[in-house]
Amino acid sequence: MTTMSGSDGASAGGSGGRGWFTPASDAASAERPAPGAPDAVPSQQTAGTAAPEPEPEHEPEPEHAHEPEAAPEPVAGAPAAAAERTAPAGPANPGPAGSGPAGPAADQLGDSELIGASMAELERSADSATAYFYALLFVQYPHLREMFPAAMDGQRDRLFRALLTAVRLFDDGKLLGEYLAGLGRGHRKYGTVPAHYPAVGECLMAAIARYAPDTWGPRTEAAWVRAYTAISQTMIDAAAEDERRAPAWWDAEIVSHELRTSEIAVITVRPDQPYPFRAGQYTSLETPWWPRVWRHYSFASAPRPDGLLTFHVKSVPAGWVSTALVQRARPGDVLRLGPPAGSMLVDHEADSGLLCLGGGTGIAPIKALIEDVVSRGRARPVEVFYGARTDHDLYDLETMLRLQDSHRWLSVRPVVAAGAASAAEALAGELPDAVRRYGPWPAYDGYLSGPPGMIRTGVETLRGLGIPTHRIRHDSLDELVVQGA
Ligand SMILES: Cc1cc2nc3c(=O)[nH]c(=O)nc-3n(C[C@H](O)[C@H](O)[C@H](O)COP(=O)(O)OP(=O)(O)OC[C@H]3O[C@@H](n4cnc5c(N)ncnc54)[C@H](O)[C@@H]3O)c2cc1C
Ligand code: HEM
Repeated sequence: MTTMSGSDGASAGGSGGRGWFTPASDAASAERPAPGAPDAVPSQQTAGTAAPEPEPEHEPEPEHAHEPEAAPEPVAGAPAAAAERTAPAGPANPGPAGSGPAGPAADQLGDSELIGASMAELERSADSATAYFYALLFVQYPHLREMFPAAMDGQRDRLFRALLTAVRLFDDGKLLGEYLAGLGRGHRKYGTVPAHYPAVGECLMAAIARYAPDTWGPRTEAAWVRAYTAISQTMIDAAAEDERRAPAWWDAEIVSHELRTSEIAVITVRPDQPYPFRAGQYTSLETPWWPRVWRHYSFASAPRPDGLLTFHVKSVPAGWVSTALVQRARPGDVLRLGPPAGSMLVDHEADSGLLCLGGGTGIAPIKALIEDVVSRGRARPVEVFYGARTDHDLYDLETMLRLQDSHRWLSVRPVVAAGAASAAEALAGELPDAVRRYGPWPAYDGYLSGPPGMIRTGVETLRGLGIPTHRIRHDSLDELVVQGA
């Protein structure tokens, strides 16, 4: 991995505490500053003075709650000292602390191997490590608490997942760079500034030292510090660059809200400033009802001359944001949008066909892709398999069939999982089976959007049909990487 493992010669690890990974604070200054004084990192509380309390487990509260979960130890001395400690207290997988990957061979390992081993160990107790990380962060830096949602259950492993993603992308510097740049741009909407990174880094290292003790040691620590610094720097640089041309977020007023079924709404918004994006991408969205709770939604159209944006939202049982959007939102309500993200884009240089699998509201970005092909005015075969549980759930079939009638190169096949196909003349069964039935697809690229399970089985099916991984796209890079694709 070039981006993360490159050594800048700084002796990052073992420097004894504050300010090891203080990244440069603007895009012009890409070089990592020497270890030393922290860059406007807020001063810590006296260690151990604020014992965190358990976090609420159920519904989020509209107002901030300042209750981190576990009771972390003071960060002072950790993680720098962790490698030298004899036994860090309370890890889920206790082992000889400070030994690092054992044996002389460990000396030969590069940063990516050291970090990979550390992550593999950390994954076994990822939940505890995550809880510890956030508890420590909010105790040591209480003012950061209000940047995060009131209740964080279910969402809070994303930092670790991002690191896992970064580690898995070690060998693809370009993809890693793109991923981290997107993450950095996306962090502007949270109010993240460069000075926050050292605070997060310290708590992260403390969590890793504690929950991956078998692989922790001075060299692993130094590798982590280098990697974290490089990751942070990429995110900070991308945010600084983005600041020059885009707002941190967009306010977007709902101009129409159409219930297509009792669970699915088609929502159109008008952003307060031009919103540049590409067909196939998605955005992050915050509602006024759940502050700081962001969810992703795909654009259901290619960019339009009127600048309006449309989303298809399905309310999931007890889902905070989706239920609010479907049941509560009305024209005139103002949502907040983050920057566009996602790489499920049409390659307009290629001649290949598009084999599209859209499950449920996953049909939304597929429709955007079709409009994108239409706007280029170059006919290429597009085969759409539109899956849903029942006929009733094929809420956008009419639109899709209209598109099919207008373009001879487009074919739309509805597929319903439950019961026999009926009025919609849908195929019965699961999406992958239908795709197999009509294959093989040697001259097609795969595009998939829908629930994660559908994407997983869909990707396996397309690979099984001989479409190589690099020609299969879907809307979540994390998901792709976690699958080991
Ligand atoms: C890249 C991307 C694009 C997306 N695009 C869209 C889109 O265009 N339209 C859309 O409706 N959604 C889309 N989603 C899903 C969306 O981001 C939310 O996850 C979804 O709306 C649920 O959020 P919530 O806050 O309502 O539920 P949460 O409060 O997050 O979840 C509540 C409960 O529901 C469960 N749950 C979460 N999602 C589902 C689900 N799909 N089915 C059943 N149970 C679930 C959770 O495990 C939890 O137990 C997309 C997701 C990603 C990653
Ligand atoms: C290397 C450093 C970091 C990485 C890899 C990282 C990664 C992530 C990821 C993957 C998410 C999930 C949502 C998204 O994609 O935007 C997230 C959310 C978030 N991050 Fe970071 N982050 C880092 C540093 C920071 C810093 C320094 C702050 C500032 C305090 C911060 C604050 C937040 C907040 C407030 C959220 C939203 C939380 C939520 O929705 O639950 N992050 N981060």
